[in-house]
Amino acid sequence: MAATVVVGMQWGDEGKGKITDLLAAQADVVVRYQGGSNAGHTVVAGERTLKLHLVPSGILHPKALCVMADGTVVDPVTLAREHDGLEQQGVSCANLRVSGNAHAILPYHMLLDTLEEESRGAGQIGTTRRGIGPAYCDKTARVPQGVRMWDLLDEAALRERVEAQLAVKNPLLQHVYGREPLQVDEVIAPVLEVVPRIADHITDTRVLLYEQMTGGARMVFEGAQGTFLDLDYGTYPYVTSSHPVAGGACLGTGLGPRSIERVIGVCKAYTTRVGAGPFPTEQPGPDGDLIRERGHEYGTTTGRPRRCGWLDAVMLRTAAALNSATGLAVMLLDVLNDFETVPVCVAYEAEGRRYECVPGRDATYAACRPVYEELPGWTQPIADCRRWEDLPDNARRYLDRMSELVGVPIAAVSVGPSREQTVVLDL
Ligand code: IMP
Repeated sequence: MAATVVVGMQWGDEGKGKITDLLAAQADVVVRYQGGSNAGHTVVAGERTLKLHLVPSGILHPKALCVMADGTVVDPVTLAREHDGLEQQGVSCANLRVSGNAHAILPYHMLLDTLEEESRGAGQIGTTRRGIGPAYCDKTARVPQGVRMWDLLDEAALRERVEAQLAVKNPLLQHVYGREPLQVDEVIAPVLEVVPRIADHITDTRVLLYEQMTGGARMVFEGAQGTFLDLDYGTYPYVTSSHPVAGGACLGTGLGPRSIERVIGVCKAYTTRVGAGPFPTEQPGPDGDLIRERGHEYGTTTGRPRRCGWLDAVMLRTAAALNSATGLAVMLLDVLNDFETVPVCVAYEAEGRRYECVPGRDATYAACRPVYEELPGWTQPIADCRRWEDLPDNARRYLDRMSELVGVPIAAVSVGPSREQTVVLDL
């Protein structure tokens, strides 16, 4: 029993890739349990900066098995492209395993994601348009059967499943969106073209993971997106269609709850969000702009500028409870250098009430206003700090207050993008 979940405590993009990469150095298996190519991990390894969307960050560690488990949705064309790109950069994908039960994202999912978004007008979710929602919809709809990765290995089964899907999707494309119907061959041709490059990686990952677990393997479950993008516990409907919370690691891998030993909650020292939806501590003015420029807050997958704001301890406290977080990894602390004071949201107020945790009702959340506490800032550069004692007093005070407000000890602090720029306390 030695699995660690790395989970995003905010709205994604917290820097989970860096923490997974650090943990993967000691891991035997690194697993993605939900989401698909909507994720974007930037991992800096020596001179190389790698941007990954599908393949787990653990791929940089040649000894670790790298698994896309049952709960993920896999775009085979993106998978093949990422696989080839990594190999060309000298990163072997020999240890990559993809669940045959993971649902495949096909061209019509991406098309529908875009058409659905456009039809929402001002009510857009701001999806990544990678087909995530439509692919999970097919999975949960059950009939006609969604296409799974196993089906790519059998052309007749693939054709049959896609034909059944098109019988439902073409009337939608024609009569709701005024588009031409899709032909089965145009859907499956690009997929069949990449199958020879990915076929050997498709397997029964549930059995593989169970064997690894019972054999004593050290495992890292790498969450994508973040707690508040969770389909059930996020800011619905401005969420993704899977379960990024730590509990999603069990559903998405087939391993039971007792396999999880530790949960590292990853958060930025401030807050960001891509896409629409409530964001109580958002700073649309100069402070938010400064955070965006310093933190290079532009989406890895879509390049969109991220909305930026102050740290929201109410969210983090709620996320700590939702995920059973055992440690906090605080990322991008260096971005806050040089602010004279740093506000932290310690509670919300709405409708004459004070909230210590994120309220469940969306209308109440939309009405929430942050209650701030001002903490003194620090001016010394921190990029070279490697130990807790190296950090400026006020930076430590900020982290201590954060830990106190959230009720979870600090496990690591990131002070720059490289692996070395990390103060490790208990990872
Ligand atoms: P979808 O996952 O593409 O359906 O997008 C749903 C919502 O989740 C949108 O607000 C996206 O911007 C957001 N989202 C999806 N993936 C990520 C991510 O990796 N980081 C941050 N936001 C994400």
